Amino acid sequence: MAPRRGGGGNGGGGSVSSCPDAFLTTIEQVSFANHVVFLVILLGISIFFCVFRKRKVAGKKLLGLPFIGALFFITLCYICQIVATVLQQCGTASFASYYDLRIAIVIFSYLGNYFLFVVVIYCLTSMLRRQVDHVNAIYKIVSLTVVGLMGILMCVLAGLGAYLNWSNKERLFYGSGAKDYYDIAEAYPKLQAAYYSLYLDLIGWSLALTIAMVFHTIISIVVVAWILEEVDYNPESAVTLNWLLNLGQALSLIFILCIAKHVSWRRPTVTDPVGFQTQYAYNGDSNAQGYYHHQSPEYIGNGNAVWANGAFLLRPRRREVCCLSQNACFPAPRGCSSQRHKYESMLIHNNMDDPAFENDTDLQTQSILLAAAKHDVPTLRNLLRNSSANVQDLETGFTPLHAAIAACEPENEFEETPANGDTNGVAKEQKPEIEGAVKTMKLLFENGAIWNDLDTNGETPGCVAHRLGLKELYELCVDAGVRAELLLSRLDEYQPLGDDESDQDNEDETEGVDVEEAENGLEVLDLSLGDSHGDESTNNPNYLASNLTFNCDRLLDSDANGVMMKWEMTLMRRSAELILPGSGLRVLNVGHGMAIIDSIFQERQPTSHHIIEAHPDVLRRMKAQGWYEKPGVVIHEGRWQDIVPGLVEKGEMFDAIYFDTFAEEYKALREFFSEHVIGMLDPAGGPNGDGGKFGFFCGMGADRQVAYDVYNKIVEIDLFEAGFDTEWETIPVPDLDEQGEWEGVRRKYWALSNYKLPTCSFIG
Ligand SMILES: C[S@@+](CC[C@H](N)C(=O)[O-])C[C@H]1O[C@@H](n2cnc3c(N)ncnc32)[C@H](O)[C@@H]1O
Repeated sequence: MAPRRGGGGNGGGGSVSSCPDAFLTTIEQVSFANHVVFLVILLGISIFFCVFRKRKVAGKKLLGLPFIGALFFITLCYICQIVATVLQQCGTASFASYYDLRIAIVIFSYLGNYFLFVVVIYCLTSMLRRQVDHVNAIYKIVSLTVVGLMGILMCVLAGLGAYLNWSNKERLFYGSGAKDYYDIAEAYPKLQAAYYSLYLDLIGWSLALTIAMVFHTIISIVVVAWILEEVDYNPESAVTLNWLLNLGQALSLIFILCIAKHVSWRRPTVTDPVGFQTQYAYNGDSNAQGYYHHQSPEYIGNGNAVWANGAFLLRPRRREVCCLSQNACFPAPRGCSSQRHKYESMLIHNNMDDPAFENDTDLQTQSILLAAAKHDVPTLRNLLRNSSANVQDLETGFTPLHAAIAACEPENEFEETPANGDTNGVAKEQKPEIEGAVKTMKLLFENGAIWNDLDTNGETPGCVAHRLGLKELYELCVDAGVRAELLLSRLDEYQPLGDDESDQDNEDETEGVDVEEAENGLEVLDLSLGDSHGDESTNNPNYLASNLTFNCDRLLDSDANGVMMKWEMTLMRRSAELILPGSGLRVLNVGHGMAIIDSIFQERQPTSHHIIEAHPDVLRRMKAQGWYEKPGVVIHEGRWQDIVPGLVEKGEMFDAIYFDTFAEEYKALREFFSEHVIGMLDPAGGPNGDGGKFGFFCGMGADRQVAYDVYNKIVEIDLFEAGFDTEWETIPVPDLDEQGEWEGVRRKYWALSNYKLPTCSFIG
């Protein structure tokens, strides 16, 4: 709306009261009231904002610069609206100054609107994610891209809006620029429509939910008003209103479900209702070379404490633990039942509908972290009576274990910290600190602290201890890891879930921990599988179906995963020397790969040299390279799982067996040495008849030291159980990053400076 009278300049200068013609119509009054009322509301919000900012609550992080920007620009916009309306009503504004104000209004309104968008799309969602997980880079990149694109669109719109107003001011619609003006005026609303559609789309589910609920409420009010007004009963209207009412209700429920199902809720804030030490399964991503540390536990809602990786939940009344990924239940370990009261109190505690939940949790978390950092064992023990040992700081991702270890970092940053977990260099003054940390960590582990939770730097407590050279603390983490992983590896051996049907039905009703729901909650199981297998390309059948690329220094699958790399030559040579120390012996190699170890075996002129290989591309290459014609070489085409039973049946015996496959879980290696090696390794074999030797590529968890150490201990225990003594030799690995080894390789499966080479022989 243009000014009532043009050219008034500044000369008028009258107040509203001196504007007898102002706000004569109702629509003018309602429209002006609209701006005034909302300006007052915004001022109220600003006051509330200032008060709220002073309080120490986690939610205030949402009220950062974008929020301030939104508040500021929207307020400015209302002020300009009011000024423009008053000037226009009184006719005191010049045509030009009126349009200057309109330009300001357009720009402020877009800016305010955009900042609000940033708050919802970026700040709110990343806060929610951070509350439940660490914000990963890809998530940040995506939200920043969305915000960036919307920012560009907003700038274009604000520019065009301002230009149109300026054109009005300059009366361009008359002159030679008229065509441009009309083109832009036509394009502008289309662009606006696109912008707001995108805006609506991105605001997404929460907006849909709000609209559905508002809709439902409005219809409810209409129905009530209708009843109050005692309007004559009209069946058509009653049915229509009921339809609409139900539609609104159903939509609300659906949207709530969609939001609840959203992946971003699947991470814990405070978990471990069980207070139980062994939260992780032993089925990590286990291609023979790249075993990964496990993920944090899943939180799938009130009372359903489920760990995705080796997902298990405690059913206290039945005194059993169900491992979802293994689909099995087994008797709860000692001590679990005594945690029952704690478990149930956690269910109440974890009521996320409770508005006090966030504040209480935050305070509780900080108290626990503080007590852990101060190594204040009595306080910590008290706090742990009603809370979890696995709380995490929202900012740093620190768990109490991280805090207890990090507190031992030398104050003086110039003080040298010994590398690689060596604490010989620990200063005397640090000793009491370390003793305190040991006690604190023991208490935390007794209360179910998770050994491999990650902080926001991607470090487990063990990684922190290793980085700071705190060997004693590091060993505690390794031991806890071994205990946890070993127990969960045993879950494989328990009866499948659901054997006892009647019991099951009963249980689900009484517990409030709906096992069936958790089982059927495919996301949990799927996630678990997804995590445990890393990615689909590194599962054995997919790998065997993929095309391989052979280069002089590497063998890659079609997803650029490193199947074998030349830098492993030293490791292969040393393994070959140790298990096949002389000539004229019998050797079996499982997994031919780049033929490195088989070529070394050949140099030793074995009397028989069996090779099992499953990949068609590798087999083709073996043919091309004449492996089938080499004296003494017997090639078995197929998976070892299918070949080995035949060899055992035939009574084939060997002096040396080496195992190095790809894209198989640790379970496969364990099955190989526990069930098959005994039938093929000659106890009277070897050059001196003192028994054959078994070797394998040892690369589990080699992307971080603590995981590698945990897994190596577990393998040693499993080997011992299978009847083998293991000797370890440490072989230095050069800096592979520096040598550019990982260029073009999808995933770095080795990140350590030492390889632990195992050589196994029968016990006794
Ligand atoms: C890491 S490479 C072996 C490298 C070898 N040690 C060397 O020195 O070059 C793994 C090999 O195991 C093979 N393999 C994977 N799964 C297998 C299975 N189930 N049975 C037999 N061979 C398998 C792969 O095709 C690949 O050739």
